Amino acid sequence: MKLLFGLSALILCLYRSDASTGPNIVAHPIEVTNQTSAVLSCNLTNPTSAVRGHYWTRNGKVIETVEQSPALYTEYSLDKIDSRSSGLYECVFLSDPQVQMAIEVKTSPDVSAYKHSEYGNENDKGVMVCVSHGYPLPYNWRWFKMQDGVEQPIVNDTGRYTIKSTPNKTVLTIEELDMELDMGDYRCYGDSVVDSKFDTIHLRVRSRLAALWPFLGIVAEVIILVTIIFIYEKRRKPDEINDDDDSGSAPLKSNAATNHKNKDVRQRNSN
Ligand SMILES: *[C@@H]1O[C@H](CO)[C@@H](O)[C@H](O)[C@H]1NC(C)=O
Ligand SMILES: *[C@@H]1O[C@H](CO)[C@@H](O)[C@H](O)[C@H]1NC(C)=O
Ligand SMILES: *[C@@H]1O[C@H](CO)[C@@H](O)[C@H](O)[C@H]1NC(C)=O
Ligand SMILES: *[C@@H]1O[C@H](CO)[C@@H](O)[C@H](O)[C@H]1NC(C)=O
Repeated sequence: MKLLFGLSALILCLYRSDASTGPNIVAHPIEVTNQTSAVLSCNLTNPTSAVRGHYWTRNGKVIETVEQSPALYTEYSLDKIDSRSSGLYECVFLSDPQVQMAIEVKTSPDVSAYKHSEYGNENDKGVMVCVSHGYPLPYNWRWFKMQDGVEQPIVNDTGRYTIKSTPNKTVLTIEELDMELDMGDYRCYGDSVVDSKFDTIHLRVRSRLAALWPFLGIVAEVIILVTIIFIYEKRRKPDEINDDDDSGSAPLKSNAATNHKNKDVRQRNSN
């Protein structure tokens, strides 16, 4: 028992001495949540070698060119924190080895519908999409259908509904759209550790017939056109006769008529 105590005391002592002698970065603040602006700072103590410079990164990308300086302190000002400037920030000191410290800058998830108005045809699939930007991304997505102003939860995989989600995107699919059941407003909620945000999508369901309208329109057009041509042709015949009379081609016609008569006579004679 005594040995165990001694051993753990020794380990603690070694750990402490290591912590107090090694390089250490004190970041301030450690985390920023729900703020509109902030000044991030890092203070390096006990560097193992001379510091050649420092820089800052956001989500692993360098956001400030390296400042060549032996300084052990650096700060970065965020004048406006929103979903575009939130993220995982890191201060990096160029020493041997390089040392760094992370500061999380968190905002409410920026949840938005891919399209605020969606259309689907009866019996087809309905697809609605919401996306999120910023840091941190939602760890959970939920969908609701609005029924008389009240949110009705949509359960995944109950046959008609399928929800597929990743941290930055959620897709709700409805099988065999029904005009009565499915038309209306839908809400997607993105839940992050900071807050929950939602956006609304209005789904319209068109009847199968409506989908056929353009085709039926063309058919109707053709029918009308054919009818017009037909009527025109029918009416043209008596007009033609009048025209012929006017243009003085009457003799030709009467000839034809007499020929016709002659033919009839001939035919009768031969009988
Ligand atoms: C950095 O840390 C040291 C030791 O903890 C402290 O004395 C010093 O004031 C700090 N510097 C800044 C700029 O915060
Ligand atoms: C919904 O169910 C499908 C099929 O079982 C599954 O692949 C998907 O991960 C589920 N989505 C959620 C958000 O649970
Ligand atoms: C969402 O995340 C995936 C990886 O998880 C990435 O490939 C994709 O580009 C991201 N999309 C957006 C819109 O940020
Ligand atoms: C962030 O602010 C929202 C309201 O703007 C609040 O509901 C939420 O609890 C806050 N989150 C944290 C972690 O303070």
